[in-house]
Amino acid sequence: AHTTVAIIGAGPAGLLLARLLRRSGIDSVVLEHRDRAYVEQRQRAGILEQGTIDVLRECGAGERMDRQGLPHNGVELRFDRRGHRIDFPSLSGGRAVMVYAQTEMVKDLVALQLADGDPLLFEAQAVAIDGLESGQPSVRYVHEGRERTLSCDFVVGCDGFHGIARAAVPSGVLRTFEREYPYSWLGILADVPPSSDELIYAHSEHGFALLSMRSPTVSRLYLQVPNGTDVADWPDERIWDELDLRFAVDGDWKLERGPITSKSITPMRSFVAEPMRYGPLFLAGDAAHIVPPTGAKGLNLAVSDVVVLAKALSRWHATGETDLLDGYSDTCLRRVWRAEHFSYFMTTTLHPDPAQSEFDTRLQLSQLHRIADSETAAAELAQNYVGTPFE
Ligand code: FAD
Ligand code: DHB
Repeated sequence: AHTTVAIIGAGPAGLLLARLLRRSGIDSVVLEHRDRAYVEQRQRAGILEQGTIDVLRECGAGERMDRQGLPHNGVELRFDRRGHRIDFPSLSGGRAVMVYAQTEMVKDLVALQLADGDPLLFEAQAVAIDGLESGQPSVRYVHEGRERTLSCDFVVGCDGFHGIARAAVPSGVLRTFEREYPYSWLGILADVPPSSDELIYAHSEHGFALLSMRSPTVSRLYLQVPNGTDVADWPDERIWDELDLRFAVDGDWKLERGPITSKSITPMRSFVAEPMRYGPLFLAGDAAHIVPPTGAKGLNLAVSDVVVLAKALSRWHATGETDLLDGYSDTCLRRVWRAEHFSYFMTTTLHPDPAQSEFDTRLQLSQLHRIADSETAAAELAQNYVGTPFE
């Protein structure tokens, strides 16, 4: 079989790219290793930037988001037992974010793709990418127990951090940049209305905690835990007690408890591979870069990459010009590094490193006070959080 663009991976990047290409009259095939239920239920991100909201609407995937998503105009930073609100629209020229789970966005895009899109194959594992030097690229994949070959003009690796696409680039071509952190997040879903209308990012002597939500009746909470933590060591009661300590604030605020329906551990990593292209192979989303989750940039970066790529492929398709394709990596990397810096800043400002000194803690608190007291510092956070408009 032949297609113009072979897309490996049906996460947010791959699904949205297929959708955007279809609108430009470019055919594609999406190959996804896992089954549909797995892809639709994998608990991950929850915050959509303004640019992500806009592109979902433009490509017809915004209807349920606009009905069920929760627009948020600010977040609370909580430290030294006090809360400080950061208002997004007034500090960022009217921009804001939406709480809408990655799982829901993926469900919407899968439904559209299966209804009127190009082929999307589940349980189709890409095992090799061939012909990257010959000008005749193809992807070998296993589907229904047989190995098959999909030839194409371009391959896009939207296959996440552990996929095969980045690994298909010959060694010596990519430069990688990496940083690990001495803590992870324990994330839970709980059947209880969120105890705050807006997200709370809390710095405390007991560690970082984040209150988020999935709906008016479902809370999403995260707490900093040591690397290597086993969720089995965190019974529900212990999680709530620890969250109480970390969100403690002067005044009468209370964290409501409810049945915990899911628990998982997320390690923290910063990673960038440059360039995001090798000949006819393009990398997008987590396949090319990872941010630690504080600041909610991972999903939004995956979306902005494929917006840039869809535009470049669309120009190539319409005119034969490759200038935008040639600029893809540089264009994306500008935004990627901004998000890397912001995510690093949010992470290291809000999480006490277990090895840090009292001096380091005082610096973190000074930085947080500065954001709370200075409109300039708050605007810097707000503008990064809502994200700059997409290319
Ligand atoms: P993915 O969503 O990873 O999709 C890649 C897809 O490729 C997967 O469906 C995978 O099955 C498929 N695939 C892999 N290999 C192959 C192959 N060989 N053949 C075919 N298919 C393949 N971001 C936040 O902003 N906030 C969060 O709280 C947050 N939590 C996260 C928790 C976890 C555990 C993880 C892993 C990520 C989290 N992220 C979070 C980041 C965010 O979810 C990602 O940035 C986002 O999913 C990136 O989308 P993607 O499409 O690039 O990759
Ligand atoms: C969520 C995740 C984040 O990493 C973040 O910074 C804010 C919210 C969430 O899953 O809701």
